[in-house]
Amino acid sequence: MSASSYFAVRIQSVPVDRPLPFDVALLVAGNYVVFKREKDVLTLDRLDSLIQKGLKAFYISEEHRDQYRAFLKQSVQQDTLSADQRGRYIKESAFNHITDLFTQPNVGRLAEDSKGLVEDMVNFISSDISAAVRLMGLSNHDYYTYNHCVNVSVYSISIAKRVVGDDKNLLMTAGLGGLLHDLGKKMVDDKIINKPGKLDESEWAEMKRHPSHGIELLKGVANVSEEAKRVVHEHHEHLDGTGYPRGLTEENISQLSRIAAIADVFDALTTKRSYKEAMTADLALDVMLKMSPGKFDPTIFRYFEKRIPTKQDVEVAKGTDPCAPGFAIKKAG
Ligand SMILES: [Fe+2]
Ligand SMILES: [Fe+2]
Repeated sequence: MSASSYFAVRIQSVPVDRPLPFDVALLVAGNYVVFKREKDVLTLDRLDSLIQKGLKAFYISEEHRDQYRAFLKQSVQQDTLSADQRGRYIKESAFNHITDLFTQPNVGRLAEDSKGLVEDMVNFISSDISAAVRLMGLSNHDYYTYNHCVNVSVYSISIAKRVVGDDKNLLMTAGLGGLLHDLGKKMVDDKIINKPGKLDESEWAEMKRHPSHGIELLKGVANVSEEAKRVVHEHHEHLDGTGYPRGLTEENISQLSRIAAIADVFDALTTKRSYKEAMTADLALDVMLKMSPGKFDPTIFRYFEKRIPTKQDVEVAKGTDPCAPGFAIKKAG
């Protein structure tokens, strides 16, 4: 079978101590070898020993993708699961969904299904205060863009919860906007998205089209509200009008777009890329504080930045954009 007919899943995201709904394979010296067949049982002890040996991924045949997806969906609903396991399944489902959105042609139909998933995320995050932190800890796949979309969704829900309270509809819109915010990157050349160095002028111009591409892709998708679509369109706008694609100013940028803008930059800074290390949350907040005059909504930023500033000496050049490829920051001293 060809290499592309399998997809990787995290080792902890398959069912244990009951019949498997799909075959599970391992990658051995470049070949996929079936480890357990459908209906076989993988015991928790066996799984633990594999984890201890450092195994991170199982591989599932593309033919079984629907069974895997159905299994995750059911699992999230189970009351008997521990919060940790539920979080794992939710994050895995979100990751799968965003992978489909970026790689499959039928974006409209898939985007219609995003709502149910975001509802699971909102319910989970609303269930207890540490849930969002737990979700963030359950990382990470190696595909930056997909992880980033899931992370921005989780951060957006968490920030919205602080800023607007427990309005479920609003939290779902925040989560949905966050999940889909970079969907337009699907239309941008991968070479630009993954470029390790700075973009040249024409590459940057293409990159800056992704919010508009996103809104194009979501045209007519009824389950994604106008407010969520605004997040897709406005998440790179700055209050002072220096953002893109339209250079909107304060009064024309929605509150949820302002929340997503903060979530977006925070995740870009705290994630490792091929060209930079991940920043600590503390340092990221210092950088954002320096960027913030005129860019981020100060009231929302204050909710996000509930900590004592460390006053680390970082130089943030004018026009710094942590979401752009090749981004680097100087730590003084
Ligand atoms: Fe973006
Ligand atoms: Fe983003």
